[in-house]
Amino acid sequence: MARDEVDLMARQVLRQNDRGTYTVPNGSVYPFQWNWDSAFVAMGFATFDLDRAWCEIESLFSGQWSDGFVPHIIFWKDDAGYFPGPAVWSSGRSPPTSGITQPPVAASTARILWEHDASKMHEMRLRRLFPKMLAWHRWFASARDSQHIGLPVIVHPWESGRDNSPEWDIPASSVDVSRVGAYERRDTGHLDERMRPTRVDYDRYVALLQFGRALNWDHERIGRESPFRVVDVGVTMILLRANRDLLFLADKLGLDDAVTELRSTVDRMERCASWLWDDEIGAYCSRDAVTGRSSQLVTSASFLSFYAGVLDSARDVRLLNHLSRISRSVKFLLPSLDPAVPEFDARRYWRGPAWAVINYLVGNGLQSAGHYDWAERIRADTRRLIEVHGMYEYFCPLSGLGIGGDDFSWTASIWLHWARQ
Ligand code: DGY
Repeated sequence: MARDEVDLMARQVLRQNDRGTYTVPNGSVYPFQWNWDSAFVAMGFATFDLDRAWCEIESLFSGQWSDGFVPHIIFWKDDAGYFPGPAVWSSGRSPPTSGITQPPVAASTARILWEHDASKMHEMRLRRLFPKMLAWHRWFASARDSQHIGLPVIVHPWESGRDNSPEWDIPASSVDVSRVGAYERRDTGHLDERMRPTRVDYDRYVALLQFGRALNWDHERIGRESPFRVVDVGVTMILLRANRDLLFLADKLGLDDAVTELRSTVDRMERCASWLWDDEIGAYCSRDAVTGRSSQLVTSASFLSFYAGVLDSARDVRLLNHLSRISRSVKFLLPSLDPAVPEFDARRYWRGPAWAVINYLVGNGLQSAGHYDWAERIRADTRRLIEVHGMYEYFCPLSGLGIGGDDFSWTASIWLHWARQ
């Protein structure tokens, strides 16, 4: 398909999933506003409707809680086609929200929007958003670092955005699911269950939701007491980069105190990110904060160190060796999991498929670190996947086949913002 035809299709997907002030990831499987989806969606809108792009981020922050937390879902309207809906989360907020968060991409998006047009009108919008973004970033440091690791924990696999990555298998195995009770999944009513997390995964998701709800969504307590506390390499690297982008914006806005604060946050995170380096594996791997154990798994998130600006020439060579080895066993980069491990499953959600959004983050990081050939290879693969197969939620890295939901907002957005170039 010609590039301008794909452009049209991508805009149409965004328009069709646009609900006025927020965009649904996909009309049937995900009928609400999702946190990191909105951050990516705004990048796409910015290529043809900058006002609408700002609005997407503003509506996300209108669901922010007073402690700074920004929920992973805002339930602007109820919809029986999704489980767990607002009544299950029972957050007591208006608008109703979930009680967990998601990878904090929004500040990096705000920088992109600002770079599209730094006129006075947009400066006002940025000035209004800035303290909200800063409050969210501070929340990660205050509510999610009770062990003083210097990096935030996630307390639910959904907070990673990479729901069923095998990185969570061992840490989540200690979650007690004996009192979960009966529930009905809706995702498998829309999609082939072989592409989705398993029943065991879902029992743990629901048990952790019930744990947070029983604590009345007291984030400080959940951060201290949750049976699932993992430092996710994805969230860590994305937050570090988002702090750098917020620092850039603070500087542009002349916010000196915020500049000082964010400089020290970036320095701390950069130093502490080494805790995730697994020298035996030769990669950054998520680590269980309860046991201290590394996942020992190379996932697509392992390569986000470049995006975060965590650079070390000896480590980077080892990471690129993994990338090179992985590229020889798939047709399309970047599989979400190293194909050499037994948990690899080319079609099951975050246990193998390639995702346009992670490709963008990794490609962007490799480009900034000067690894142009790898950055271009990942971009070209993403371009081909979308051109040939469409705006799917994710793709089989072996055949290229589009899987999961179709007409997916973030895939359309990544096409417009990055893959098409
Ligand atoms: C889902 O429901 O599959 C989502 O990924 C949770 O946020």
